[in-house]
Amino acid sequence: MTIAPPTDRVPLTFYLKDEADTCALGAALAGILEKGLGIHLKGGLGAGKTTLTRALLRAAGYQGKVKSPTYTLVEPYTIPLGDEQVELLHFDLYRMGCAEEFLDAGFRESFNGSTIHIIEWAENADALLEPPDIIISLSFHKEGRQAVLSPASPKGVECLSRLAFTRGQKP
Ligand SMILES: Nc1ncnc2c1ncn2[C@@H]1O[C@H](COP(=O)(O)OP(=O)(O)O)[C@@H](O)[C@H]1O
Ligand SMILES: [Mg+2]
Repeated sequence: MTIAPPTDRVPLTFYLKDEADTCALGAALAGILEKGLGIHLKGGLGAGKTTLTRALLRAAGYQGKVKSPTYTLVEPYTIPLGDEQVELLHFDLYRMGCAEEFLDAGFRESFNGSTIHIIEWAENADALLEPPDIIISLSFHKEGRQAVLSPASPKGVECLSRLAFTRGQKP
């Protein structure tokens, strides 16, 4: 028996020449959100994880200030999705000390199938988190950034297949 290669899980790669391109990708990602979607953002400090999330939230209809959750570990938002108001949690686990901190804060309970999660530094809590639907890796490349979007679940494949982003040219 031959097993078909997972062609539907092929990553999408974009070159983001400046911050405006990063924001345009964030806005495009707002268009593929679904209840319960989990996105992990990878990349070093300053790679653009928070910039991308801020643009996503703005495009998703959140009008208030979007702060980096550097010290709070998480910032909660409510966004309109279809006829519903959906909770979106933006985590930054860079400063998370230990697993107990994550558990004591009740973060585990937020993985309830309807809340959207966008997580920076998920690698600091890998064992405690649900597997993501989409992994986005941002890296420094030439003057800008390279973004690699990898679907990591059937839901991620479905959502990424709806991504309308044409701006980032190949590096
Ligand atoms: N495509 C890009 N090219 C160049 N600079 C960018 C790009 N995208 C974002 N930036 C800049 O890089 C920095 C990213 O900061 P931030 O989003 O806080 O990073 P992170 O959350 O990954 O630590 C910001 O100063 C932003 O203006
Ligand atoms: Mg950040």
